[in-house]
Amino acid sequence: MKIIHKISQIREITKNLNVSVGLVPTMGALHSGHASLIEKSVKDNGFTIVSVFVNPVQFGINEDFDKYPRTLENDAQLCEKLGADVVFAPSVDEMYQDTRELTLVCPPYSAINKLCGKSRPGHFDGVATVVSKLFNITKCTRAYFGQKDAQQLFIIKKMVKDLNFDIEIVPCPIIRESDGLALSSRNSYLDENARKEALKLSRALNYSKELWQKGIRDKDILRDSALKILEGLDVDYVEIVDPETFEDWQETGKKALMLIAAKIPPTNTRLIDNMEL
Ligand code: PAJ
Repeated sequence: MKIIHKISQIREITKNLNVSVGLVPTMGALHSGHASLIEKSVKDNGFTIVSVFVNPVQFGINEDFDKYPRTLENDAQLCEKLGADVVFAPSVDEMYQDTRELTLVCPPYSAINKLCGKSRPGHFDGVATVVSKLFNITKCTRAYFGQKDAQQLFIIKKMVKDLNFDIEIVPCPIIRESDGLALSSRNSYLDENARKEALKLSRALNYSKELWQKGIRDKDILRDSALKILEGLDVDYVEIVDPETFEDWQETGKKALMLIAAKIPPTNTRLIDNMEL
């Protein structure tokens, strides 16, 4: 398996491939959640590229860009073990000449004025822009995204449709620890106590799902019972949306997706999770 840092080298490699190319975009610090995407791509495609790039354009000024874990050597070992063909790990300079003078891909306001888009202004412009660049650089046939970042997946699917990218987006289920905690590179910021607190996210989702299965459809009851379990965390949002449209869920809607974002004190680590009820 090769580790490649230059765009020109990726182009050279993919130029003459006559097999399908799977792309797994990541920011590294790979865990079993990422591994599940890579495994699926290796199974589905003749060639798999894993990109590892901590994208400055999707981080706000007070966010964790500087301290985000960077573990390229371990990441590359895992990718090799899983059967990936190339790790593409460009530098910031290789990807962006000047981030202040950059043409951005901006998802519509209706997709970003809620959930993570509301508390992280500019975040999804950064995601859509870097993912578009990765699509153009790799010329992939398929790209793999986790349902853990449900709003991101929704926005990428919409972008691919709106901008006619000839790429199949493959959604992959959330991978969790045995106690329910959704895997995340940011879990490495948590000490033992904070990790226990972080379990409240999946617990709240599971409890709401139980209520849903008992027939409860009252949005306030579902949200309030989740909020009760989340007590002690700095909750950013608990929302219920229609998973197809990401519009607020209406009580007549058959399917409902509950999404939570919360900071875990005292670490200030912001975690997200979601579950279909
Ligand atoms: P990152 O957070 O590294 O995640 C890379 C991919 O792994 C995303 O599609 C994410 O949804 C998926 N993933 C993360 N944790 C997961 C879990 N527990 N189960 C299943 N899938 C999981 O998301 C990003 O990077 C960036 O925004 C990126 C798309 C790479 C653009 O910079």
